[in-house]
Amino acid sequence: MKNVTVIGSGTMGNGIAHVFAQNGFHVTLVDISAPALEKALATISKNLDRQVAKGTLTEQDKLDTLGRITTQTDLKTGVSAAELVVEAATENVDLKLRIFADMDAHAPENAILATNTSSISITRIAAATKRPGQVIGMHFMNPVPVMKLVEVIRGYATSDEVCSTIMRVSGELGKEPVEVNDYPGFVANRILMPMINEAIYTLYEGVSGVAEIDTVMKLGMAHPMGPLQLADFIGLDVCLSILRVMHDGFGNPKYAPCPLLVNMVTAGKLGAKSGEGFYRYTPGSKEITVAYKR
Ligand code: CAA
Repeated sequence: MKNVTVIGSGTMGNGIAHVFAQNGFHVTLVDISAPALEKALATISKNLDRQVAKGTLTEQDKLDTLGRITTQTDLKTGVSAAELVVEAATENVDLKLRIFADMDAHAPENAILATNTSSISITRIAAATKRPGQVIGMHFMNPVPVMKLVEVIRGYATSDEVCSTIMRVSGELGKEPVEVNDYPGFVANRILMPMINEAIYTLYEGVSGVAEIDTVMKLGMAHPMGPLQLADFIGLDVCLSILRVMHDGFGNPKYAPCPLLVNMVTAGKLGAKSGEGFYRYTPGSKEITVAYKR
């Protein structure tokens, strides 16, 4: 397998294109917005620079990696020669179902159609195609070039052959793939989101403050970020939507999102991407200050 198409050039899409291209795959990066594609290429170049600065890549590796990425605004053309398509569009069910129906209509018959969804059922997405055996979840973690895990999610109909191909390809990206079945939240978010939600409840109930809760988890459990900072990093809207998928999917009240999370999302406090969540963010600066005060 050499030709991979990535649909969506946001944070996850550009990270996925980066790791495929860095590992020798020819990548077509598709987005309906040409300016978004330009921004994605600039981000990939900047992230490759970090690796060059660290000495894990040479300047030539960087140029070769960028040389393996082409961009495309038309999905039909973008998937026409793909052996594997990895969809990383906005986390919206109707949008993903439409994209999968289009990919199914235009990608070669034997192409594997993967999705980077963090919470939407693979089985449901596969049902929008005529090739459910070739549909699979390939859930990368943010930041994609740094995080080692790929959660490989088997839908109800995913074939053994497709699953083993995706496990192998994930290994070729220098990642550690883990195979899981298709139930709400899969494994990563089934465990991560209740922890984040509980941290928000701990804040909401006044047990402790933002910085204190994060310090407990950073210094006490050796997490690189505390759960509230991580929630801001992921996006509070994304956390809320994943919790709702688990709450609906299992019908279990233990997944009910904390009312504070709901309020913050309603108020447009979405975390780092909106400039404010539990912390306040300044573009271009690593400094953060606590924004939420009881
Ligand atoms: N591309 C390439 N390299 C990058 C990068 C990127 N986008 N972002 C960071 N890096 C590298 C840096 O160059 C640096 O490398 P060295 O340490 O070798 O010099 C390293 O990563 C650390 O970066 P920073 O020094 O800038 O910052 P940091 O030490 O604060 O680390 C972090 C940042 C890697 C994000 C770290 O805080 C971390 O691991 N946080 C937790 C991330 C996490 O849990 N991600 C999963 C979220 S859940 C998800 O994605 C799935 C979902 O469905 C919700």
